[in-house]
Amino acid sequence: MKITKAIFVKSAKDLADYPSGGFAEVAFAGRSNVGKSSMINCLVQKRGLAHTSSTPGKTRLINFYLVNGEVSFADLPGYGYARVSREMRSEWKRMVEEYFLHRKELRLLILVVDVRRGLEEDEKAFLLWLKQRGIKAVIVGTKIDKLNRSERVRAMRILREQAKEFGMDVFEFSSRSGEGRDELWSRIVQVCGEGSWSFSGENFFSQ
Ligand code: GTP
Ligand code: MG
Repeated sequence: MKITKAIFVKSAKDLADYPSGGFAEVAFAGRSNVGKSSMINCLVQKRGLAHTSSTPGKTRLINFYLVNGEVSFADLPGYGYARVSREMRSEWKRMVEEYFLHRKELRLLILVVDVRRGLEEDEKAFLLWLKQRGIKAVIVGTKIDKLNRSERVRAMRILREQAKEFGMDVFEFSSRSGEGRDELWSRIVQVCGEGSWSFSGENFFSQ
């Protein structure tokens, strides 16, 4: 994917504050510290666009980005971070439910999981909830650079097996090496392709 422009649009907590440009949107959700913001930076090839940190819980609001003036990315706050207070946890739930129940522009959810951990119970419950609402989702196993070849094959096999239950496709990814980037972009373009999204042919495969 050739990225001509990627900008931060705004942070929002409530539906009323979401950007209203009407662009097809891809949301990134997953456990805290799993690598959601790093994945966005890797996809748009702009280090530091989405803030990353080795301290879990860095992203506390929904951060919106606009890529090539055509597709919107929503970086959702991470869940499962044990050290946050109960109020913060219920605020997270409210924020995320509101997003998935009302964001009309949402075309695809990317559930980011650490390939070494696979899907855990809370993630399965979340995927079921999404499926029941007809939200299109894919699962991306990230940090594959941390595994050797055979560990990677094994971890991906487990993840694919787990994903079957939800009928969702699985991708492998590394924000460090960029592996899996083209495949994930390909799916994003496929899903967001209808409408104004105009990437195609040479342009799309030029990187
Ligand atoms: P929250 O905003 O806290 O929910 O975290 P996040 O999911 O946005 O994670 P973030 O992108 O901030 O990454 C967390 C840590 O994992 C950082 O130290 C990253 O450098 C590291 N990291 C992210 N992706 C990868 C990857 O593909 N490979 C490796 N080796 N490290 C990664
Ligand atoms: Mg983040």
